[in-house]
Amino acid sequence: MSARRRVVIVGSGGREHALAHVLGRTADVVVTPGNAGIAGSTDTPATELEADLFVIGPEQPLVDGLADELRAQGKRVFGPGADGARLEGSKAWMKALFERAGIPTARHATFGPGQEAEARAFLDTLAPPYVLKTDGLAAGKGVLVTDDRAEADAGVDAYLSGEAFGDAGTTLVIEEGLVGPELSVFAVCDGTTAVLCGAAQDHKRVGDGDSGPNTGGMGTYSPVPGVDDALLDDILHRCIVPTLDALRGEGIDYRGFLFCGLMLTADGPKVLEYNVRFGDPEAQVVLPRITSDLAALLASAADGALGDAPTFDDGAAVCVVAASEGYPASPRTGDVIEGLDEVATLDDVAVFCAGVRADGAGHLVTAGGRVLNVVGRGPDVPTARARAYDAIGHIRWPGMHHRSDIAASAG
Ligand code: AMP
Ligand code: GLY
Repeated sequence: MSARRRVVIVGSGGREHALAHVLGRTADVVVTPGNAGIAGSTDTPATELEADLFVIGPEQPLVDGLADELRAQGKRVFGPGADGARLEGSKAWMKALFERAGIPTARHATFGPGQEAEARAFLDTLAPPYVLKTDGLAAGKGVLVTDDRAEADAGVDAYLSGEAFGDAGTTLVIEEGLVGPELSVFAVCDGTTAVLCGAAQDHKRVGDGDSGPNTGGMGTYSPVPGVDDALLDDILHRCIVPTLDALRGEGIDYRGFLFCGLMLTADGPKVLEYNVRFGDPEAQVVLPRITSDLAALLASAADGALGDAPTFDDGAAVCVVAASEGYPASPRTGDVIEGLDEVATLDDVAVFCAGVRADGAGHLVTAGGRVLNVVGRGPDVPTARARAYDAIGHIRWPGMHHRSDIAASAG
């Protein structure tokens, strides 16, 4: 038997907590910077740590080139370099790559400052809903979807002037609005090939019934009823593998998770976007269902010698996000979180910590908008859902809120 691998995970949210939970089954795990709710957290930066494998969770360090920096130190890294991370860092570049590679996606055009008239003329060619996206990273908030043409016109001005998103927003992508259920599909890539790594459904709006503003995600479930292996294989071969081929054609050796956000339209699956990392809170429902050795798989991908696709249990997982008062506009922080000891006694429930910190008096307090991810497991989605909601009923702090309809329509 070989010794357990030592794995460093970079990041500080619920996704990284879930990665630590699952990688920790077969590896010794350190998380940098992690948070007060994740065992093995350290303030020492990844560049100063030694390990057999480095796994980078969030997009920002990938876009900033952390994977390149670690590779230059001779480290084994799972996560794309800054060149591959442009897929998420620039929607305009991503859409141009889709076009060259023939990947099914919404019709679109890209505009810069001063092209307000051209942008409006392109809107004239589209039917509602109108979709406006800022080019750069905007923490999941850079997208406007509206049926109201006046609002779309106002959006053109706000995006192109930089008023909406500063420097991230002066390049604008306008897209044809697609209609259909959304699906998130995940793959593990080794630069040349890819294997599927689960699928999930996200609830992005803050309120029940998909009301209110977009968030980073208020809840997820996996598997997604009605999404079978044939559909996932079709997405792998028609979208994901051609994307890797196109990246390789640009000289980009993409080793990491690829998150394919799709809409299942009447004309078949169409790619809305890629993210260069696992979804958050999708990781919290997909990764715990893996029954094979995830650390070994990610190490094989980091080496460019991809192992077999992961295997999953037959059950389901549902994640409900507990958010702080004011999220997403202006979350209040510093509230003491209560009830976690009660949840710890429940079966088939895991709590992953996102925006939390220790207050110095032995309490965990809120430190962000999305605070806790409460995951229920069970033989099917309704059972997993009931367990997640039972658990979240024990958790409280002033102003805490969550959606009550996560996975409600999922069989
Ligand atoms: P994105 O950041 O590109 O995934 O967009 C965020 C959300 O906006 C998606 O999850 C969709 O709900 C919506 N959206 C994005 N692009 C489109 C589109 N072309 N048609 C309809 N809805 C879209
Ligand atoms: N939950 C959506 C994302 O991670 O971007």
